[in-house]
Amino acid sequence: MLNLNKVGRQFGGLVALNDVSFNVEKGEIVSLIGPNGAGKSTLLNVVSGFIKPSFGTVHYKGKNITGSDPHQLCKTGIGRTFQIAKVFKQMSVLENVMVGYFPRFKSDIFQGILQMKKARKELDEIREISYELLRFVGLEKDADTLSGNLPYGKIRLVEVARALAGDPDLLLLDEPACGLNSSEVLQFIEILKNIQANGKTILIVEHDMRLVMSVSQRLVVLKNGELLAIGLPKEIKENEEVISAYLGKGFAYATN
Ligand SMILES: Nc1ncnc2c1ncn2[C@@H]1O[C@H](COP(=O)(O)OP(=O)(O)O)[C@@H](O)[C@H]1O
Ligand SMILES: [Mg+2]
Repeated sequence: MLNLNKVGRQFGGLVALNDVSFNVEKGEIVSLIGPNGAGKSTLLNVVSGFIKPSFGTVHYKGKNITGSDPHQLCKTGIGRTFQIAKVFKQMSVLENVMVGYFPRFKSDIFQGILQMKKARKELDEIREISYELLRFVGLEKDADTLSGNLPYGKIRLVEVARALAGDPDLLLLDEPACGLNSSEVLQFIEILKNIQANGKTILIVEHDMRLVMSVSQRLVVLKNGELLAIGLPKEIKENEEVISAYLGKGFAYATN
């Protein structure tokens, strides 16, 4: 589904990513972990086209997408959320989800009255799909709420629903559980498993280790822009280098 080959990115003299290579297979949930400043967000930005890599290549479904623009990548089925949740505060929750559909919008409203009717019908369908997605993340009761009035935990879910409205095959999530309370994290774990059950592939940056360990098939660990380790959750948990760089001593014991 996704292949990174020797990806590097510099910002001036700073090496944010260096020689990072790994694959994400179709249907997998892969978590990207590591200390702050490790290059995790930069990596998601490179894959989604928001940042161009200085070195290396990115392939998606066998196609070289290195340096493509975000809107092109969005159309080819790469969806994402941001580390700082972004919603249109003046729009309702439902409208915020509908926005995620528009890269797929087919009708051309500038082509006369027949197209207008078609557009209206398509808009009704989008509303329906978006409402279903709100139900999927447990926010259907908030459909008409002004997004600016939502608590933070729910804003994160709106973002996920909006990303899903683009019907992505590959979903990139940047710290989606940040700021969620303990029961919201448990709910979010179930949502991620359901997204995966619907056939999607997920690459997720996350610090909540309970979430990471319970949803991921594999973990990728970055440190100072470099790949420190890659493997199964139980392998990473016991990896001495990862423990000293990130997880801390006692981690495996605490999560067993
Ligand atoms: N647009 C940018 N301009 C300059 N430096 C950046 C930019 N984006 C990220 N960096 C730097 O690159 C490094 C990696 O950042 P980032 O990918 O955000 O790390 P993480 O998400 O793992 O915390 C950090 O040192 C950060 O300050
Ligand atoms: Mg980050």
